[in-house]
Amino acid sequence: HERVGNEDRIHKAHYSPPWANTSFIGVAGSSGSGKTSLAYAIIRELNLPWVVILSMDSYYKRLNPEEVKAAFANKHDFDAPEALDFDCLVQNLRDIKTGQKTEVPVYSFEKHARLERTTTIYSPHVLILEGIFALHDERVLDMLDMKIFAEADADLCLSRRLVRDVRERGRDIEGCIKQWFAFVKPNFHKYVEPQRNVADIIVPRGIENKVAISMVSDRVHKTLTQKSRMHQLELKRLGKYSEDA
Ligand code: C5P
Repeated sequence: HERVGNEDRIHKAHYSPPWANTSFIGVAGSSGSGKTSLAYAIIRELNLPWVVILSMDSYYKRLNPEEVKAAFANKHDFDAPEALDFDCLVQNLRDIKTGQKTEVPVYSFEKHARLERTTTIYSPHVLILEGIFALHDERVLDMLDMKIFAEADADLCLSRRLVRDVRERGRDIEGCIKQWFAFVKPNFHKYVEPQRNVADIIVPRGIENKVAISMVSDRVHKTLTQKSRMHQLELKRLGKYSEDA
């Protein structure tokens, strides 16, 4: 009897139902490299309803009044890992991995501030974490099932960023260019680019790279099929499986 109990405990420690143990995909790359578009292209190809994009933008730390002033003058460094609250990100990811709901902060680029409200995430099948530091923190790397680095030429990144920041993030061109050369570009070489070394795949040409996108999607589907099979076996083991179901 004792032996069966032990086996049961061991089994339980290794088994997780399909709604937990979400598959995590990390997409890192330069600002303006097309990480978000790539994430959406993967989602379109996956064609699954329960997929979430978690943007690392959500985790920019709260600033004190002096830092806010510097931020509005494009003199604050948002491109060093210290600018981000990795502890909060890790907590959110751990919650999701263990099938719990979690509250994700909401960030305003226009205000350089974390807002009061949060977004609730309930266990999705797949989560895509995208951000310049998606492959930076060891604790995050340990949880990722697939690590992608989006590659793009610097001039393409800069021009995309200019258009977006002016249109969507309430910035002006002079400020954007100043911030690019003071922080974004040097820190890309210092912190962002080295993440290529821990990536499983490096994706050039972003959403035009149909082969890379379908490879990622195929692999995710394979993993989900395996999880579903394991769950059926578990139900059978518990005597809850009906052959006609
Ligand atoms: O979406 P993307 O990956 O480009 O977002 C990251 C960029 O956002 C960083 O390069 C950082 O300079 C910028 N950022 C900003 N203002 C903030 C927070 C981040 O310009 N308040």
